[in-house]
Parts: sequence; C-alpha cells; structure tokens
Amino acid sequence: MNRLKAFVFDAYGTLFDVYSVQATCEEVFPGNGAALSRLWRTKQLEYSWLRSLMNRYEDFWKLTGDGLRFSCQALGLQPEPAQYEKIMQSYLTLAAFPETAQVLDRLAGRPRCILSNGAPAMLEAAVRHNGLESKIDRVLSVDELKVYKPNPAVYQLAVDRLGLGREEIGFISANGWDVAGAKAFGLTVFWLNRQAAPVEELGVGPDAIITSPLELLDLA
Ligand code: LAC
Repeated sequence: MNRLKAFVFDAYGTLFDVYSVQATCEEVFPGNGAALSRLWRTKQLEYSWLRSLMNRYEDFWKLTGDGLRFSCQALGLQPEPAQYEKIMQSYLTLAAFPETAQVLDRLAGRPRCILSNGAPAMLEAAVRHNGLESKIDRVLSVDELKVYKPNPAVYQLAVDRLGLGREEIGFISANGWDVAGAKAFGLTVFWLNRQAAPVEELGVGPDAIITSPLELLDLA
C-alpha cells in the first residue's frame, strides 16, 4: 500500500461516533434514546439519497434536523423547541472513536483529509470538539457540489483537490454503501467494518476490510 499518497476519511460513523448522540436522546426522552438515535441516522441518510435523486439539495444540517423531526413523530415523541435544540447540538459535539487521534497521528506525513456529506460548519465543529485540528490537513464537504455521496462527483472532488490519481488515494469508510461508491469510482478503499456486517450487494467490494482503524497502520 506504499503507493497510497493520501488518506481520505469519511466522517460520520468512521471518525465520529454518530450513536454518541444516544445519551442526549435518552436524557431528553428516557427509554427512547437507542431507537431515536438509530432512526434519526437512518432518515438522515435516506434524505441525502432521496434529495440527490430529486435534485433538491439542502445541506446536511437541514437534513439532520428534518430526520430528527420525522423520527420524533414516528416514535410519538414531541420535543419542546429547547429539547429539539439540545438534541441537534449533540450532533456538533459527536465523540471521535477512541482510536481516531492515534491513527491520524501515525499517518502524518501524507495528507489526511475528511470527505463527507457534512456541512462545513458541522465538520469543523466535530473536528474542533475532538481537538483534531492539527491532525486533519483538509476538510472536503459535498456542500460545494450540492449532491451527496455516493455520486461519483463527490469522490472526484478528492482527486481534484489532492491532485492525485484515483488509486493513489486511500479512502476509509465505515459505511458499506459509501465503500461501494468510492470503489465504483476507483479509489483504493478500506472498509472499516466494526460490526462484521455483510458486504453490500452493489457489485463492488473494498480493497481491504479492517475491523479497527489501527489495522490501517499495517496496511498503509
Ligand atoms: C459522511 C456520512 C456518509 O460523513 O457518514 O459523509
């Protein structure tokens, strides 16, 4: 893997634990934290795909709010405005997975980037909250393209901004559908498969499957 000249990470679910909002959901709606945080993530992603197909882009902060509102309704929960705000704010302070800082440190020397659906302000907030400013060299958001992953234009953004060939970029994602999109485009792809999930049946698989980001250090 010495041919890899840069590392590009997905953000949500890969560097940052989206289910870390579960605690806030549970605090606001006791007994519903797990269900709410899971449905919320599902709807947020669904809306990103649907809006891309409909050519009706809105940024990921808006979709995150829309997903939260739908999920509350679906679960019969009625947040007061202050409770809604509190849950939304938890998305700006997502916890990084425990190995994130160490892995980024050890990969120093080659560009370490984020390529994410997240709106720029959301990504900046998560990076800052976890003190990763000096460990991430570049943050690329789909927001400048107004289309979400897995549209090939998103992966092309990494190629254009880094000035590298597709295979020279190591792309790491915990999201199986994002892995398929990146591989279909031609990046060198590592699937961070923490839950031993099956490979998505989308006709393209990752170059390597890892169960912890630390494994990247041996492969890269
Ligand atoms: C992202 C979503 C896909 O960070 O997790 O782009």
